[in-house]
Amino acid sequence: MPLTRIPPRPDLVVALDLPDKDRALSLARRLRGVAPWCKVGMELFTLAGPALLESLRGLGFNVFLDLKFYDIPHTVAQAVKAAAAGGADLLTLHCQGGERMCRAAREAAAGLPGGGPLLFGVTVLTSFAQGEMPGIVAAPQDFALSLARGAAAWGLDGVVCSGHEVPEIKKACPGLRCLCPGIRPEGAAADDQRRVMTPAMAVAAGADYLVAGRPIIAAPDPAEAARAMAAAIRHAALRAQGVPPAAHSPA
Ligand code: C5P
Repeated sequence: MPLTRIPPRPDLVVALDLPDKDRALSLARRLRGVAPWCKVGMELFTLAGPALLESLRGLGFNVFLDLKFYDIPHTVAQAVKAAAAGGADLLTLHCQGGERMCRAAREAAAGLPGGGPLLFGVTVLTSFAQGEMPGIVAAPQDFALSLARGAAAWGLDGVVCSGHEVPEIKKACPGLRCLCPGIRPEGAAADDQRRVMTPAMAVAAGADYLVAGRPIIAAPDPAEAARAMAAAIRHAALRAQGVPPAAHSPA
């Protein structure tokens, strides 16, 4: 997989959570040059299949296939190979699948050209608040941290977590990249998400990839909403590097 196409971080990932392949592609066309990544999740992939991934790659996007694999090690290993063949640059699996499942995924990817897609372990869904995870009494941030430690030990490239968990995860596992859903512009509705952050807060926390769906796709002008979010990310990244706001370029 040509990972050289993958742009510098932190970066915006637009979740194409739409019930229709043509609408997804038409939105993607409007997002060219604004967001370098598109995320295809369960709904759209179930409807449109791998052909959509190739179309998105053809438009110049890096493709994040968010199917959150969780199964026996052999099945997940085979699914990683299938996702890579279908055009995924990055895919997700649940850290709760455990060491053998995650290592099997890593080995499957390692045997592919270029090391295969990036593998990101889902820690605690950003829609969970404390006490909502069946059978888990730990606070989401503590549970996410312990799963992230596993992800690092088992060879995953990164984890999916809320922005609130990034500082502790980065401290404990400096090599692990953090991909954060639950991103909401200041004052926007949280929808069903519970552990949300603004783009600027997530960048300041150290997030590498920021995922936004509804704040962009449900906006009156999705391309403009994506542009505003990408600008907020860029300005926050420059601020984090110590560049004063007056020196930030407008575009
Ligand atoms: O619309 P919204 O911005 O809430 O979309 C967030 C996207 O990120 C959805 O596609 C959702 O499936 C995904 N996601 C998430 N939390 C995770 C992993 C993925 O919200 N832990």
